[in-house]
Amino acid sequence: MDDELRRAHCHALFGAISVTLSALGCAPAVQQPTDTVIVGPPAVSASAVASTPSEVMPDAALSPIASATPTPVPSATPTPEPSASVATATNKPRKPPPKRPPVKPPHSTIVEGRPFIVDDAARLAAVGSQPGWADEIDLRMHDVTLDERVALIRHYTDWALAEHASIASFTRFALQLIALGAPSHLVTRATDAMADETRHARFGFGLVKALSNEQVGPGAMSIDRAFTDETTMESVLRLVAREGMIGETLAALEVRAAADLAELPFLRVALAKIADEESRHAELAYAFAAWALEQSPTLAHVIEEELRAWDAPALPIASGLTRWGILDESTRRAVRDAGFANVVSPLATQLLAPMRRAAPSPTRQGQILERT
Ligand SMILES: [Fe+2]
Ligand SMILES: [Fe+2]
Repeated sequence: MDDELRRAHCHALFGAISVTLSALGCAPAVQQPTDTVIVGPPAVSASAVASTPSEVMPDAALSPIASATPTPVPSATPTPEPSASVATATNKPRKPPPKRPPVKPPHSTIVEGRPFIVDDAARLAAVGSQPGWADEIDLRMHDVTLDERVALIRHYTDWALAEHASIASFTRFALQLIALGAPSHLVTRATDAMADETRHARFGFGLVKALSNEQVGPGAMSIDRAFTDETTMESVLRLVAREGMIGETLAALEVRAAADLAELPFLRVALAKIADEESRHAELAYAFAAWALEQSPTLAHVIEEELRAWDAPALPIASGLTRWGILDESTRRAVRDAGFANVVSPLATQLLAPMRRAAPSPTRQGQILERT
């Protein structure tokens, strides 16, 4: 995989969602990005030595229950003042900005994909042994060292739990859409996404089961306080900006890159399909935001605040596992940074362009969505 291909992923996702926004009345406001280079690791040669899971199994480290990340990781990143960049953009005295609710800082988690955010933390189930959550996957023909097996079980257990949490996130979103009186096509896409995330979780748990030879699945997950905020257009838009416009977009790009690097054919195919579906989830987030802003144009600040508050989150440490569809830390960081700059930010600019044309504000235009 070369840099051109990685750039192409950003452009393809940007283009697909931009077309959707254009169809919803958000005319493109920016040129498609062309100049970001994402540096990745060299390709790794596949090995053809076969071993069975049972040959290296009797080790407590291979238990997904022992190796899984046990609890969600809340964010501790403070949110920058929304008005800071605006205030420094001109020497003229300015009126204070209108009073807005504080921006919550939930972004820095190691959860992958669309998180289920409750009380500003990404909530996950504990790993359990619930049957019926693991696809049947046969890895006996693939060479796996003991170290690889331990790392893969850890990674794919966390990944499967995150996909499982995405089901809850879309479940909540579907109810919120009903509460807001949203169009049926958004509700349909949200429920389709729930089914997608269920398949993703089953695939992840299937990999863990094949690697560990243990029955594995999600345990019970609390949904307490999942609806503590009043369901308003603003509260839902804020969640969608965090979970979908940013979270799903970057997740889609990461899975796409992982699919390109994976060497096992079945994994390449599965990850590519998951990337397609995550891309549609990201598209749904922007489609909802377009509808929400059409209903409530004054909520444009929510998008601006959420994008400004985003910070590169902590990432799980993994290296040498790209052939298993796991990006190393530096590649993931590069994919995320490029995705934010070349996909999330320009799409948000396109989304907000009608609001800016309706209420021009020279000090804010062109700078709000640029990360420094
Ligand atoms: Fe997913
Ligand atoms: Fe997703």
